[in-house]
Amino acid sequence: MGKTTIIAIAGASASGKSLFASTVYQELVAELGGQGIAILAEDAYYRDQSHLSFEQRQLTNYDHPSAFEHELLVKHLEQLRDGEAVQMPQYSYKTHTRVPDTIKVNPGKVIMVEGILLLNDPNLRKLFDISVFMDTPLDVCLLRRMIRDVEERGRTIQSVADQYQETVRPAFFEFILPSKQFADLVVTRGGQNEIAIDLIKSKIRQLLAE
Ligand code: C5P
Ligand code: MG
Repeated sequence: MGKTTIIAIAGASASGKSLFASTVYQELVAELGGQGIAILAEDAYYRDQSHLSFEQRQLTNYDHPSAFEHELLVKHLEQLRDGEAVQMPQYSYKTHTRVPDTIKVNPGKVIMVEGILLLNDPNLRKLFDISVFMDTPLDVCLLRRMIRDVEERGRTIQSVADQYQETVRPAFFEFILPSKQFADLVVTRGGQNEIAIDLIKSKIRQLLAE
């Protein structure tokens, strides 16, 4: 197998990263089959907290770089780049920890990875060939997060609001926004920006054909 290209998609919480990455991935899989493209989520690399009680886990700052096991993500990206399959952890937002299962990710010519703090970490940045930043207005992100966290992540409106003010918003200005400077491409209007989705798809098609 030739050179592997690693594409990172970063940006605020609920800015459309997961939607953008999964749209690119699923449309290419439908068109070309899954061979050659792999997709990873930074969320899967939140530290395991199974040794803590649920109440203790609720106290963790999930927007701080220390919440992530980036060392394992670096290791997995290096292994994939070197042609080895990896076992990606699985994470539950409802229990705030990893679940026992893992998902096997096969190496490919193109690896996509999405997550809030990818471009903040110099060890990860070194591995990225193409970096994308989702530049979605924060009010749009907050509205999306509110609905998503209540519908899908087992939260109350009050808990979303408290967490937003205590950690999510401050971390955006401290860690996420400054990392925009490392992006090659800045995408406006979130995960439904079809022109941006098309551009990345064309680039991946070209890489797969090489
Ligand atoms: O999908 P998204 O990028 O929004 O996921 C990252 C967000 O998930 C972080 O902003 C963090 O606050 C939130 N999170 C959470 N509870 C966890 C783990 C992450 O609310 N247990
Ligand atoms: Mg997401």
